[in-house]
Amino acid sequence: MRADAAGAMIHWDEIEFKLVSDLIESRFGLVFDMGRDGLLMNQLACRIADLNLGSFTDYYHYLSHHPDRTPELEALAQQITNGESYFFRERHHFTILQEHIAPRHHARSPRDPLRVLSAGCAAGQEAYSIAITLHKAESSLGATAWKVDACDIHPGRLEQARSARYGESSLRSCRDADRRLYFEEDGGSYRLRPAYRNRVRFFPANLTDPAVVEWRRYNVIFCRNVLIYFSDDAFQEAVDQFSRSLLPGGYLFLGHSESLINRRNDFEPVSLGGHIVYRKKEAGPSSVYS
Ligand SMILES: C[S@@+](CC[C@H](N)C(=O)[O-])C[C@H]1O[C@@H](n2cnc3c(N)ncnc32)[C@H](O)[C@@H]1O
Repeated sequence: MRADAAGAMIHWDEIEFKLVSDLIESRFGLVFDMGRDGLLMNQLACRIADLNLGSFTDYYHYLSHHPDRTPELEALAQQITNGESYFFRERHHFTILQEHIAPRHHARSPRDPLRVLSAGCAAGQEAYSIAITLHKAESSLGATAWKVDACDIHPGRLEQARSARYGESSLRSCRDADRRLYFEEDGGSYRLRPAYRNRVRFFPANLTDPAVVEWRRYNVIFCRNVLIYFSDDAFQEAVDQFSRSLLPGGYLFLGHSESLINRRNDFEPVSLGGHIVYRKKEAGPSSVYS
């Protein structure tokens, strides 16, 4: 088989595909099955040409042993991850947060801040949708504080997230009135107003790395449209990490194509607002929600 690198053809076979794809799976948890093999190899071919390497095997050795392998692995993660996101994707999740979780938190733990994590936040569209939602929920949160943390493996997306500037496609599911309320137009792009930015903190993290130290204890974790690209093992590691990071009774939102069915976990499906979400099982009297 061949991959196209700016005019030059780089040949590859199944063994080379397996070498490279196994390395990607072990580092980032991402799987590229044979249906997406050509796509992956074409993406990598340009990089191989830029590095003046001759083959995918050379690239595998570069990623495994070269002194510059760490920045190269970071660049690779950026190249192969899908960053598609937009504000209020799967809007019902934000309605559940506003109408069910925020009032429930205030009723049971009014002095504890409501902490939410957006894991795999892309350029911040999900994290800021959460922040806008919690602003809207302030009448039911009363004096209860709230904070949003957000992480992603892709530094470029995190940089855009911190700048809070977006194009039309990120706002495609925002109603006109909401656009005017939450964003200011600025030379063809939209910038989220400061009031919705200042309680959101972004940090880099690889969800499959058990050494992620910045995680706190959360009441709610959103991890949507991320695990769908993960291997079974990486999916499981991420779910275990969420379980450790969520307080008992805390909620986990997954994307519509992701589920915990047939996976080891300590979550229970609960119905909120007519939708099923996952809640971490309670563990005795110290639970935050009963
Ligand atoms: C398709 S976007 C989903 C964004 C958002 N959660 C949403 O639903 O709109 C997937 C994001 O997951 C990030 N990602 C992929 N693998 C990751 C990993 N191992 N650790 C952290 N983030 C990862 C990608 O960089 C990308 O920004």
